[in-house]
Amino acid sequence: MVDITRTVKEIQNKYKVIGRTEELRQIVLAHSVGKNILIEGEVGVGKTTIAKAIASFFDAGFYRVDCSEELLPHNLVGYFDPPLVISQGYIEDSYKYGPLALAMLNGGCLFINEINRMPESTQNSLLTSLDERILEIPKLKTIRAHKDFFVVATQNPSAHVGVTVLGEALIDRFIWIKLSYQIPEEEILIIKQEANLDNGNGDKIAKISQNIIQITRESTSIRRGSSIRGAIDLAILINQYDNNNSTKNWVEAAVMALHNKIELEDGLTQSKKEIITNIVLAVLNKSDFQ
Ligand SMILES: Nc1ncnc2c1ncn2[C@@H]1O[C@H](COP(=O)(O)OP(=O)(O)OP(=O)(O)O)[C@@H](O)[C@H]1O
Ligand SMILES: [Mg+2]
Repeated sequence: MVDITRTVKEIQNKYKVIGRTEELRQIVLAHSVGKNILIEGEVGVGKTTIAKAIASFFDAGFYRVDCSEELLPHNLVGYFDPPLVISQGYIEDSYKYGPLALAMLNGGCLFINEINRMPESTQNSLLTSLDERILEIPKLKTIRAHKDFFVVATQNPSAHVGVTVLGEALIDRFIWIKLSYQIPEEEILIIKQEANLDNGNGDKIAKISQNIIQITRESTSIRRGSSIRGAIDLAILINQYDNNNSTKNWVEAAVMALHNKIELEDGLTQSKKEIITNIVLAVLNKSDFQ
């Protein structure tokens, strides 16, 4: 039996993961019984951070696959290099192993980023590796996975462009872990850490930045609010100004940081810039930040 509470604390300390105690507990539990893990959450919610921390903690090699419609089975499994096959035949030296085969051979974490962008034909090439831990490479060999092979995948449920529906057979082979936005207190700590805000004004900058992104998530004019990345970028930018108490500077930095990170509802008369400006003014006028 692993001591899950202690393992979670160690992961948090070693990899500077703030909070996520519950989710890490679930992941460590699933990992300890050899399950494949699917981390689901909105953009910027910390999926990659958590997956990388887990892989590093278990001291496994990290084999990363970023999915798109163009990801074919051979990108995942591997392929025979045609010129080498002609000169040497179908032997080990002619084969270029892909990340799935390498993770199974060497024992490591196969990290499949945005698995819901993986085409169906490629999804199918994963099935036996995920449950029977076997990968058949025709004309070469059958790989039986090393005991330390494990799979962590991520998916963003609201991504639409280029997304295929995850096949039932594939999704059935994963344990599901949900990451939602963290509480404001934890987000403030993340912003301070990631933007290196250790000067006198750091607390205030982190709090204002967090409050601004929180309002983008609650605003009825905004379809998709900002992730923590918006607040981190905003904090880093505003920290560079000589005067970070100036409303004008906050507005400028917020428009730069948030413009690409939010999506407006259809049919609005206001521009993104105006909406961001109004949010910044409202936050700066709050008595806590005066
Ligand atoms: N719990 C946390 N502790 C420390 N830093 C965090 C935490 N959650 C998120 N971050 C920071 O927030 C940023 C975004 O996190 P990350 O890249 O892991 O998100 P993601 O869900 O993988 O995003 P995407 O959907 O765009 O791939 C990173 O700078 C990361 O360091
Ligand atoms: Mg990511």
